[in-house]
Amino acid sequence: MITSKLPNVGITIFTQMSQLAASSGALNLSQGFPDFDGPQALRDALGWHVANGHNQYCPMTGLPALRQQVAAKIARSYGVSVDAEDEVTITPGATQAIFCAIQAVIHSGDEVIVFDPAYDSYEPSVALAGGRCVHVQLAANDFAIDFQALKDALSPRTRMIILNSPHNPSGALISRAELEQLAELIRDRDIYLVSDEVYEHLVYDGVPHASVLAHQELYQRAFVVSSFGKTYHVTGWKTGYVVAPPALTAELRKVHQYVSFCGVTPLQYALADYMAAHPEHVEQLPAFYQGKRDLFCDLLLPSRFSFTRVTGTYFQLVDYSQIRPDLNDVDMAVWMTREHGVAAIPVSVFYQNPPQEQRLVRLCFAKREETLREAAEKLCVI
Ligand SMILES: Cc1ncc(COP(=O)(O)O)c(C=O)c1O
Repeated sequence: MITSKLPNVGITIFTQMSQLAASSGALNLSQGFPDFDGPQALRDALGWHVANGHNQYCPMTGLPALRQQVAAKIARSYGVSVDAEDEVTITPGATQAIFCAIQAVIHSGDEVIVFDPAYDSYEPSVALAGGRCVHVQLAANDFAIDFQALKDALSPRTRMIILNSPHNPSGALISRAELEQLAELIRDRDIYLVSDEVYEHLVYDGVPHASVLAHQELYQRAFVVSSFGKTYHVTGWKTGYVVAPPALTAELRKVHQYVSFCGVTPLQYALADYMAAHPEHVEQLPAFYQGKRDLFCDLLLPSRFSFTRVTGTYFQLVDYSQIRPDLNDVDMAVWMTREHGVAAIPVSVFYQNPPQEQRLVRLCFAKREETLREAAEKLCVI
């Protein structure tokens, strides 16, 4: 008899929808990954390093050259200086970074606040640390933090709050003013933050990303997580990083050391080379993805879906209440995939208690122009 440590966990909706998309021959706008490749120079660099002997373990904390590039990027993006040696740790993906941060500070019986809709890895990571997630719903209309609800959810056991901005699945951003409000609320409490900022460079319409890295007070209690996979169009490389003050970094590394010890060596060499040679890559990302968002949204204007253009991430939420209000969003996503050839993700799976009246599915626009055109054509006849 196995007593499962995660009795409520099954195959994720992302895997299920990707499988259904493949078996139905549908365009896969469900799982969040580009259908185009990362930069040629980045891929060439990986080939070069594999061919030239960079195939053994790298330092547990990550390749120094890559940690320095991360610190340089942070200085350019947010005007703050972090120590590449004591504050930056390279991990095999942001998911692992989040897991290690949670294991590092959450003890049995601790409470962790997550905002619903929430990315699916947070809850099992907290459960495996012996903690308990307390779910606070984001505002229904704009997915902003409801500070009264957050205040009400705080208890003497609250040990962590998990932030995610730009936010998956809604594309909403946490503003600098909201970070100030949060700082005020938790100033006298012993609470850590995980700030999941994997979409930090995917922000549109000139709206800046308010990173916790640039909020001196909050940063003192934070693990800030990002993903090279999202930023360099190579999600399959599963390489990410955590930035945290030295004392928190030391605790995080104790866990990371025994979860994986280190990330994949040649990938780190390739990323370090590419980042050094192409600092402009991150500056060009907003325009690159905003172009895709606008193309996709313009093409969807004649459809019966309603939507507000997202401010961040590469996901667009669309409301289908004018099409099939009778279907819940899981059935809608399946119906769209099977009958109309476009796979989407139902938003209810990101909630502990999904709002019953909500009729939203998430579409990923990190796709080539022809994929977006083909998908929009199908979506316009539903
Ligand atoms: C909000 C969020 N956090 C973390 C991740 C995981 O990133 P990685 O692939 O680097 O583990 C994702 C990937 O979809 C995500 O959407």
